[in-house]
Amino acid sequence: MTNPLPTWSALQTHYEQIRDEKLRDWFAPANDTAPTRAERFTFSGGGIGADLSKNRITDATLELLVQLAREAGVEARRDAMFKGEIVNPTEGRAVLHTALRATEANAPFHKEITAERAKMAKFADAVRSGAWTGYTGKRIRHVVNIGIGGSDLGPKMVVHALQHLELPEITSHFVSNVDGADLWRTIEHLDPAETLAIIVSKTFTTLETMTNARSMRDWFVKHGCPEGDLAKHFVGVSANPAEVVKFGIARDNVFEMWDWVGGRYSLWSAVGLSIMIAIGPKQFDELLAGAHDMDEHFRTAPLEKNLPVLLGMIGIWYRNFFGSQSYLVAPYSEALHFLPSYLQQLEMESNGKQARLDGKFVDYATSAITWGEPGTNGQHAFFQMLHQGTTLVPIDFIAVLTPEHPLGDHHPKLLANCFAQSEALMLGRTEEEARKVAGPDKPELVPHIMFPGNRPTTTLLVDALTARSLGALIALYEHKVLVQGTVWDINSFDQWGVELGKILGKVVEADLTAPGAEVKQHDSSTSALIARARAALKR
Ligand code: F6P
Repeated sequence: MTNPLPTWSALQTHYEQIRDEKLRDWFAPANDTAPTRAERFTFSGGGIGADLSKNRITDATLELLVQLAREAGVEARRDAMFKGEIVNPTEGRAVLHTALRATEANAPFHKEITAERAKMAKFADAVRSGAWTGYTGKRIRHVVNIGIGGSDLGPKMVVHALQHLELPEITSHFVSNVDGADLWRTIEHLDPAETLAIIVSKTFTTLETMTNARSMRDWFVKHGCPEGDLAKHFVGVSANPAEVVKFGIARDNVFEMWDWVGGRYSLWSAVGLSIMIAIGPKQFDELLAGAHDMDEHFRTAPLEKNLPVLLGMIGIWYRNFFGSQSYLVAPYSEALHFLPSYLQQLEMESNGKQARLDGKFVDYATSAITWGEPGTNGQHAFFQMLHQGTTLVPIDFIAVLTPEHPLGDHHPKLLANCFAQSEALMLGRTEEEARKVAGPDKPELVPHIMFPGNRPTTTLLVDALTARSLGALIALYEHKVLVQGTVWDINSFDQWGVELGKILGKVVEADLTAPGAEVKQHDSSTSALIARARAALKR
């Protein structure tokens, strides 16, 4: 697979030269003289540290990767995004999530953003203090965020990550799936008099969210909330306020976002209202400040030391030259439990594209499959395959140096596991070493206890999981996506690929629920599935 950029072919040649080299040899004390790999390949930005040294890179690799980024126009695309130019051409939109965390008064849309943020803060404070009451006069104790994709994953991930900063009087819930079990399991034991629903949808037309919102409204009314008091329990967040009002939410209860905020980049906008209620406006500002720190780093640091650029280009190195299909995100932090699912949307919806900006199809690979699970859990599940399987899966380990809890020896154990995994994946175990471990009585064990090693990992270090460091971490991945999308010459900010399934979903739903009529217009498989389900739904 090729890319027309000249450095692409230089990297191809370089790859052939170093593909069989071993990290273990590069790290051997005799070879790893000062400045060591750890010294040469450790970088930092926005308060985040990144050890890239256990990647299959040399100084020459990084030089070429940075040259490729430069050649692809990463700096120009980055600057165009920050300035508010149309960098999402298929939807004719600017992409300005960075403006949401900018502090400068001359930043794009600063006035609108500040006004909406003040409205959010006033509301969040009222809910948090108990001044905002439900239809019986009780304070709000449960906040149910109803949204899906970008209107769910970001807020859910952040609220979970910062649970240690949450106001104890309020519990946050997140409902996304159109499977009624999601909503029902959440609200079944809640008291509607103490519950606030935040309906979050940029378009306010999304099937799942609107279905859940309607059922939520019915639940309030059925449990005694007078229609006239629904405004005390319902707020909406959308770029389509007219539709929110049409749904029946009071105009004062509508929080606006704008078309220049992409769904998967929107947690910094009013989409983050549930975050603000959970942790308070001050901590929300800290989250924004952390993202702004990373924005500044991305905007100003030389590409050679620019974390989003380096992370993005290393991803390209494995995806396009080693042919890795996926990469793993392993946060050694329970707080970051939902980071991998958040990153799945961010990376795969952004860069899972086949058409280049000029409309021609790519003939090289784009987005890797992003997946992940917190450590150490993953070690007892799928790490076997990472160590001895036949597929190369590069890994981002994320370690938080200071624990949020007071529990004795947990944290050194957690960190030890994180660092030991990257060491083991890098070193592997040779045949000779395996023979020693197996001993003279068990030579047949040798192939089973050999590890190929040379498995590349990046370790990101965060001092403590605060709102600020989390903001920086998220922004790091956001910008990494832009870097990769630029090199792949695709539009990272549209998502046409979700449309076909939505259109066919409406047709199938009509067939499933239409009384009588025979289902004909599908292939034999889909028709048979519909027929089976129709029979079951009638029961
Ligand atoms: O279907 C995909 C998608 O459009 C995502 O891009 C978006 O985050 C999600 O659906 C939810 O959209 P909305 O916020 O408009 O309900």
